[in-house]
Amino acid sequence: MASDMRQRPRRNRSHPALRGFTSETSLEASRLVYPLFLHESPGDEPIDSMPGCSRHGAEGLLREVDGALEDGLTSVLLFPALAESQKSATGESSHDPDGLIPKTVAALKSRWPELIVMTDVALDPYSSDGHDGIVAPDGRILNDETVAVLCRQAVCQARAGADIIAPSDMMDGRVGAIRDALDAEDFTEVGILAYTAKYASAFYGPFRDALDSAPKSGDKKTYQMDPANAREALREAELDEDEGADMLMVKPAGPYLDVIRALREASPLPIAAYQVSGEYAMLAAAAEKGYLDERPSVLESLLSIRRAGADMILTYYARKAARWLAS
Ligand code: PBG
Repeated sequence: MASDMRQRPRRNRSHPALRGFTSETSLEASRLVYPLFLHESPGDEPIDSMPGCSRHGAEGLLREVDGALEDGLTSVLLFPALAESQKSATGESSHDPDGLIPKTVAALKSRWPELIVMTDVALDPYSSDGHDGIVAPDGRILNDETVAVLCRQAVCQARAGADIIAPSDMMDGRVGAIRDALDAEDFTEVGILAYTAKYASAFYGPFRDALDSAPKSGDKKTYQMDPANAREALREAELDEDEGADMLMVKPAGPYLDVIRALREASPLPIAAYQVSGEYAMLAAAAEKGYLDERPSVLESLLSIRRAGADMILTYYARKAARWLAS
Protein backbone atom coordinates (compact mmCIF):
# COMPACT_ATOMS: atom_id res chain seq x y z
CA MET A 1 0.00 0.00 0.00
CA ALA A 2 1.35 3.44 -0.88
CA SER A 3 2.73 5.17 2.21
CA ASP A 4 0.29 8.07 1.80
CA MET A 5 -2.47 5.60 2.70
CA ARG A 6 -1.49 6.24 6.33
CA GLN A 7 -3.54 9.33 5.70
CA ARG A 8 -7.22 8.47 5.67
CA PRO A 9 -9.27 11.67 6.16
CA ARG A 10 -12.40 9.50 6.10
CA ARG A 11 -11.57 8.20 9.61
CA ASN A 12 -12.70 11.52 11.10
CA ARG A 13 -15.93 11.37 9.14
CA SER A 14 -16.84 7.82 10.05
CA HIS A 15 -19.24 8.49 12.93
CA PRO A 16 -21.73 11.29 13.68
CA ALA A 17 -19.97 11.99 16.99
CA LEU A 18 -16.62 12.42 15.22
CA ARG A 19 -18.24 14.67 12.66
CA GLY A 20 -19.60 16.62 15.62
CA PHE A 21 -16.08 17.05 17.08
CA THR A 22 -14.58 18.13 13.80
CA SER A 23 -17.22 20.44 12.43
CA GLU A 24 -15.59 23.83 11.80
CA THR A 25 -18.62 26.05 11.29
CA SER A 26 -21.99 26.41 12.92
CA LEU A 27 -25.22 28.13 12.01
CA GLU A 28 -27.58 29.47 14.66
CA ALA A 29 -30.81 31.44 14.56
CA SER A 30 -29.06 34.06 16.70
CA ARG A 31 -26.96 34.97 13.63
CA LEU A 32 -29.89 35.65 11.32
CA VAL A 33 -31.63 38.92 10.51
CA TYR A 34 -35.05 38.83 8.87
CA PRO A 35 -35.70 41.48 6.17
CA LEU A 36 -39.37 42.43 5.77
CA PHE A 37 -41.35 44.51 3.29
CA LEU A 38 -44.19 46.75 4.39
CA HIS A 39 -46.78 48.87 2.64
CA GLU A 40 -49.57 51.25 3.62
CA SER A 41 -52.44 49.00 2.48
CA PRO A 42 -54.13 46.98 5.20
CA GLY A 43 -53.63 43.48 3.79
CA ASP A 44 -50.61 41.36 2.87
CA GLU A 45 -49.72 41.10 -0.81
CA PRO A 46 -47.57 38.23 -2.09
CA ILE A 47 -44.45 39.19 -4.08
CA ASP A 48 -44.49 37.26 -7.37
CA SER A 49 -40.73 36.98 -7.82
CA MET A 50 -40.14 36.00 -4.17
CA PRO A 51 -42.47 33.07 -3.50
CA GLY A 52 -43.27 32.91 0.21
CA CYS A 53 -42.57 36.64 0.81
CA SER A 54 -45.16 39.41 1.02
CA ARG A 55 -45.53 43.13 1.33
CA HIS A 56 -47.12 43.30 4.76
CA GLY A 57 -49.85 45.55 6.05
CA ALA A 58 -49.66 46.71 9.66
CA GLU A 59 -51.49 43.74 11.08
CA GLY A 60 -49.74 41.14 8.94
CA LEU A 61 -46.40 42.60 9.92
CA LEU A 62 -47.11 42.22 13.63
CA ARG A 63 -48.16 38.63 13.01
CA GLU A 64 -44.99 37.97 11.01
CA VAL A 65 -42.72 39.50 13.67
CA ASP A 66 -44.52 37.59 16.39
CA GLY A 67 -43.93 34.38 14.46
CA ALA A 68 -40.29 35.29 13.85
CA LEU A 69 -39.70 35.80 17.57
CA GLU A 70 -41.40 32.53 18.30
CA ASP A 71 -39.08 30.85 15.80
CA GLY A 72 -36.09 32.17 17.75
CA LEU A 73 -35.14 35.21 15.68
CA THR A 74 -34.05 38.42 17.38
CA SER A 75 -33.98 41.02 14.65
CA VAL A 76 -35.77 42.44 11.61
CA LEU A 77 -34.76 44.86 8.86
CA LEU A 78 -37.53 46.96 7.37
CA PHE A 79 -38.12 48.14 3.78
CA PRO A 80 -41.09 50.30 2.73
CA ALA A 81 -43.03 49.82 -0.52
CA LEU A 82 -44.53 53.26 -1.13
CA ALA A 83 -47.14 54.59 -3.53
CA GLU A 84 -45.86 56.69 -6.43
CA SER A 85 -47.57 59.71 -4.83
CA GLN A 86 -45.17 59.49 -1.87
CA LYS A 87 -42.07 59.55 -4.06
CA SER A 88 -40.23 62.66 -5.15
CA ALA A 89 -36.96 63.72 -6.77
CA THR A 90 -35.35 64.50 -3.41
CA GLY A 91 -37.02 61.75 -1.39
CA GLU A 92 -38.58 64.11 1.15
CA SER A 93 -40.79 61.37 2.60
CA SER A 94 -37.65 59.48 3.69
CA HIS A 95 -37.46 61.70 6.77
CA ASP A 96 -41.15 62.25 7.47
CA PRO A 97 -41.65 61.41 11.17
CA ASP A 98 -45.18 60.22 10.31
CA GLY A 99 -43.92 58.01 7.48
CA LEU A 100 -44.47 54.28 7.24
CA ILE A 101 -41.05 53.31 8.59
CA PRO A 102 -40.93 55.55 11.70
CA LYS A 103 -44.52 54.60 12.53
CA THR A 104 -43.75 50.91 12.18
CA VAL A 105 -40.49 51.10 14.13
CA ALA A 106 -42.27 52.81 17.02
CA ALA A 107 -45.07 50.22 16.98
CA LEU A 108 -42.61 47.31 16.98
CA LYS A 109 -40.41 48.74 19.73
CA SER A 110 -43.33 49.52 22.00
CA ARG A 111 -44.67 45.99 21.62
CA TRP A 112 -41.29 44.20 21.72
CA PRO A 113 -38.59 46.38 23.36
CA GLU A 114 -36.10 43.51 23.07
CA LEU A 115 -36.50 43.12 19.32
CA ILE A 116 -33.55 44.60 17.41
CA VAL A 117 -35.06 46.79 14.72
CA MET A 118 -32.82 47.69 11.81
CA THR A 119 -33.75 50.29 9.23
CA ASP A 120 -32.50 50.83 5.69
CA VAL A 121 -31.06 54.22 4.82
CA ALA A 122 -31.15 55.10 1.11
CA LEU A 123 -33.50 57.10 -1.06
CA ASP A 124 -34.65 54.49 -3.60
CA PRO A 125 -38.00 53.59 -1.97
CA TYR A 126 -38.77 57.33 -1.75
CA SER A 127 -37.25 58.47 -5.05
CA SER A 128 -39.37 59.14 -8.13
CA ASP A 129 -36.19 58.32 -10.11
CA GLY A 130 -35.69 54.94 -8.44
CA HIS A 131 -32.15 55.84 -7.40
CA ASP A 132 -30.49 55.64 -3.99
CA GLY A 133 -29.43 59.28 -4.33
CA ILE A 134 -30.66 62.55 -5.78
CA VAL A 135 -30.42 62.66 -9.56
CA ALA A 136 -29.16 65.88 -11.22
CA PRO A 137 -30.78 67.05 -14.48
CA ASP A 138 -27.81 65.63 -16.41
CA GLY A 139 -28.29 62.20 -14.80
CA ARG A 140 -25.43 62.34 -12.29
CA ILE A 141 -26.13 61.09 -8.77
CA LEU A 142 -25.34 63.95 -6.39
CA ASN A 143 -23.22 62.63 -3.53
CA ASP A 144 -23.04 65.31 -0.86
CA GLU A 145 -26.59 66.59 -1.37
CA THR A 146 -27.78 62.99 -0.94
CA VAL A 147 -25.73 62.45 2.22
CA ALA A 148 -27.43 65.47 3.82
CA VAL A 149 -30.86 63.85 3.22
CA LEU A 150 -29.63 60.45 4.43
CA CYS A 151 -28.55 62.04 7.72
CA ARG A 152 -32.05 63.41 8.23
CA GLN A 153 -33.48 59.98 7.37
CA ALA A 154 -31.18 58.25 9.86
CA VAL A 155 -31.99 60.68 12.68
CA CYS A 156 -35.71 60.33 11.95
CA GLN A 157 -35.42 56.53 12.21
CA ALA A 158 -33.37 56.76 15.41
CA ARG A 159 -35.96 59.08 16.92
CA ALA A 160 -38.63 56.46 16.17
CA GLY A 161 -36.57 53.90 18.09
CA ALA A 162 -34.44 52.09 15.50
CA ASP A 163 -31.55 50.18 17.09
CA ILE A 164 -29.34 49.87 14.03
CA ILE A 165 -29.19 52.10 10.96
CA ALA A 166 -28.13 50.35 7.77
CA PRO A 167 -27.08 52.70 4.97
CA SER A 168 -27.36 50.82 1.67
CA ASP A 169 -26.92 53.81 -0.64
CA MET A 170 -23.14 53.62 -1.26
CA MET A 171 -22.61 57.38 -1.27
CA ASP A 172 -19.09 58.44 -0.24
CA GLY A 173 -18.69 59.66 3.32
CA ARG A 174 -22.17 58.76 4.46
CA VAL A 175 -21.15 56.55 7.38
CA GLY A 176 -19.17 59.33 9.05
CA ALA A 177 -21.82 61.93 8.30
CA ILE A 178 -24.59 59.71 9.70
CA ARG A 179 -22.49 58.92 12.81
CA ASP A 180 -22.01 62.65 13.44
CA ALA A 181 -25.70 63.40 12.82
CA LEU A 182 -26.77 60.66 15.24
CA ASP A 183 -24.27 61.72 17.90
CA ALA A 184 -25.30 65.38 17.58
CA GLU A 185 -28.83 64.31 18.54
CA ASP A 186 -27.56 62.11 21.40
CA PHE A 187 -28.24 58.84 19.59
CA THR A 188 -24.79 57.58 20.54
CA GLU A 189 -26.16 54.11 21.23
CA VAL A 190 -27.71 53.63 17.81
CA GLY A 191 -25.43 51.42 15.72
CA ILE A 192 -24.43 51.60 12.08
CA LEU A 193 -24.38 48.50 9.90
CA ALA A 194 -22.60 49.77 6.80
CA TYR A 195 -23.25 48.26 3.42
CA THR A 196 -19.51 48.34 2.83
CA ALA A 197 -19.15 46.21 -0.27
CA LYS A 198 -22.47 46.50 -2.03
CA TYR A 199 -22.14 45.42 -5.63
CA ALA A 200 -24.08 46.62 -8.68
CA SER A 201 -25.75 43.23 -8.88
CA ALA A 202 -28.40 41.67 -11.08
CA PHE A 203 -29.48 39.66 -8.04
CA TYR A 204 -31.47 42.62 -6.65
CA GLY A 205 -34.11 42.21 -9.38
CA PRO A 206 -36.87 40.63 -7.23
CA PHE A 207 -36.34 43.23 -4.47
CA ARG A 208 -36.91 46.03 -6.98
CA ASP A 209 -40.14 44.26 -8.05
CA ALA A 210 -41.16 44.07 -4.40
CA LEU A 211 -40.70 47.81 -3.86
CA ASP A 212 -41.36 48.90 -7.45
CA SER A 213 -38.06 50.75 -7.05
CA ALA A 214 -36.10 49.95 -10.23
CA PRO A 215 -34.16 52.96 -11.60
CA LYS A 216 -36.27 54.89 -14.12
CA SER A 217 -33.15 55.57 -16.16
CA GLY A 218 -29.53 54.50 -16.06
CA ASP A 219 -28.16 51.98 -13.59
CA LYS A 220 -26.48 52.05 -10.17
CA LYS A 221 -22.92 51.52 -11.41
CA THR A 222 -21.66 54.98 -10.45
CA TYR A 223 -22.24 54.21 -6.78
CA GLN A 224 -22.53 50.44 -6.29
CA MET A 225 -19.35 48.42 -6.76
CA ASP A 226 -18.16 46.64 -9.90
CA PRO A 227 -18.67 42.86 -9.46
CA ALA A 228 -15.16 42.44 -10.88
CA ASN A 229 -13.55 44.08 -7.86
CA ALA A 230 -12.40 42.64 -4.54
CA ARG A 231 -9.47 44.92 -3.56
CA GLU A 232 -11.80 47.88 -3.76
CA ALA A 233 -13.90 46.27 -1.02
CA LEU A 234 -10.89 46.55 1.31
CA ARG A 235 -10.71 50.27 0.61
CA GLU A 236 -14.40 50.69 1.37
CA ALA A 237 -13.94 48.66 4.57
CA GLU A 238 -11.10 50.87 5.75
CA LEU A 239 -13.17 53.99 5.13
CA ASP A 240 -16.26 52.64 6.89
CA GLU A 241 -14.15 51.59 9.88
CA ASP A 242 -12.55 55.03 10.10
CA GLU A 243 -15.94 56.69 9.77
CA GLY A 244 -17.32 54.79 12.74
CA ALA A 245 -19.22 51.82 11.33
CA ASP A 246 -20.05 49.16 13.93
CA MET A 247 -20.49 46.33 11.45
CA LEU A 248 -19.50 45.84 7.82
CA MET A 249 -21.66 44.16 5.19
CA VAL A 250 -21.02 42.33 1.95
CA LYS A 251 -23.90 42.11 -0.49
CA PRO A 252 -24.91 39.88 -2.27
CA ALA A 253 -23.54 36.95 -0.23
CA GLY A 254 -23.35 33.67 -2.15
CA PRO A 255 -21.65 34.97 -5.30
CA TYR A 256 -19.22 37.06 -3.19
CA LEU A 257 -17.88 34.58 -0.62
CA ASP A 258 -14.32 35.59 -1.45
CA VAL A 259 -15.12 39.19 -0.51
CA ILE A 260 -16.65 38.07 2.80
CA ARG A 261 -13.43 36.17 3.52
CA ALA A 262 -11.28 39.15 2.53
CA LEU A 263 -13.15 41.53 4.85
CA ARG A 264 -13.13 38.94 7.64
CA GLU A 265 -9.33 38.84 7.43
CA ALA A 266 -8.87 42.59 7.02
CA SER A 267 -11.18 43.89 9.75
CA PRO A 268 -11.78 43.20 13.43
CA LEU A 269 -15.39 44.39 13.04
CA PRO A 270 -18.28 41.94 12.80
CA ILE A 271 -19.00 41.01 9.18
CA ALA A 272 -22.55 40.73 7.90
CA ALA A 273 -23.59 39.21 4.59
CA TYR A 274 -26.89 39.76 2.80
CA GLN A 275 -28.35 36.76 0.97
CA VAL A 276 -30.33 38.96 -1.41
CA SER A 277 -33.66 38.61 -3.14
CA GLY A 278 -32.20 36.99 -6.28
CA GLU A 279 -30.39 34.35 -4.23
CA TYR A 280 -33.65 33.70 -2.38
CA ALA A 281 -35.62 33.56 -5.64
CA MET A 282 -33.24 31.01 -7.19
CA LEU A 283 -33.53 28.68 -4.22
CA ALA A 284 -37.28 29.16 -3.80
CA ALA A 285 -38.02 28.65 -7.50
CA ALA A 286 -35.87 25.54 -7.78
CA ALA A 287 -37.53 24.17 -4.64
CA GLU A 288 -41.01 24.91 -6.02
CA LYS A 289 -40.15 23.05 -9.20
CA GLY A 290 -38.76 20.12 -7.27
CA TYR A 291 -35.29 20.62 -8.76
CA LEU A 292 -33.72 21.18 -5.33
CA ASP A 293 -34.54 19.89 -1.88
CA GLU A 294 -35.21 23.22 -0.15
CA ARG A 295 -34.17 22.56 3.42
CA PRO A 296 -30.67 21.12 2.90
CA SER A 297 -29.97 23.51 0.00
CA VAL A 298 -30.89 26.61 1.95
CA LEU A 299 -29.05 25.49 5.10
CA GLU A 300 -25.96 24.69 3.00
CA SER A 301 -26.08 28.11 1.34
CA LEU A 302 -26.24 29.80 4.78
CA LEU A 303 -23.55 27.58 6.33
CA SER A 304 -21.26 28.42 3.40
CA ILE A 305 -21.74 32.13 4.02
CA ARG A 306 -20.76 31.53 7.67
CA ARG A 307 -17.75 29.44 6.60
CA ALA A 308 -16.58 32.27 4.36
CA GLY A 309 -16.43 34.44 7.48
CA ALA A 310 -19.78 36.13 8.02
CA ASP A 311 -20.81 36.57 11.66
CA MET A 312 -24.38 37.44 10.76
CA ILE A 313 -26.60 36.82 7.74
CA LEU A 314 -29.53 38.80 6.46
CA THR A 315 -31.83 36.37 4.68
CA TYR A 316 -35.45 36.06 3.61
CA TYR A 317 -35.11 32.43 4.69
CA ALA A 318 -34.46 33.47 8.31
CA ARG A 319 -37.74 32.16 9.71
CA LYS A 320 -37.66 28.86 7.86
CA ALA A 321 -33.98 28.37 8.67
CA ALA A 322 -34.58 29.06 12.37
CA ARG A 323 -37.35 26.46 12.40
CA TRP A 324 -35.25 23.91 10.54
CA LEU A 325 -32.32 24.46 12.90
CA ALA A 326 -34.57 23.87 15.90
CA SER A 327 -36.16 20.66 14.61
C1 PBG B 1 -31.45 49.76 -2.15
C2 PBG B 1 -31.42 48.36 -1.69
C3 PBG B 1 -31.45 47.27 -2.55
C4 PBG B 1 -31.43 46.15 -1.76
C5 PBG B 1 -31.38 46.56 -0.42
N1 PBG B 1 -31.35 47.96 -0.39
C6 PBG B 1 -31.59 47.20 -4.01
C7 PBG B 1 -30.77 48.06 -4.87
O1 PBG B 1 -29.68 48.52 -4.50
O2 PBG B 1 -31.21 48.29 -5.98
C8 PBG B 1 -31.47 44.77 -2.31
C9 PBG B 1 -31.86 43.69 -1.40
C10 PBG B 1 -32.23 42.43 -2.10
O3 PBG B 1 -32.10 42.27 -3.31
O4 PBG B 1 -32.69 41.54 -1.38
N2 PBG B 1 -31.00 50.74 -1.33
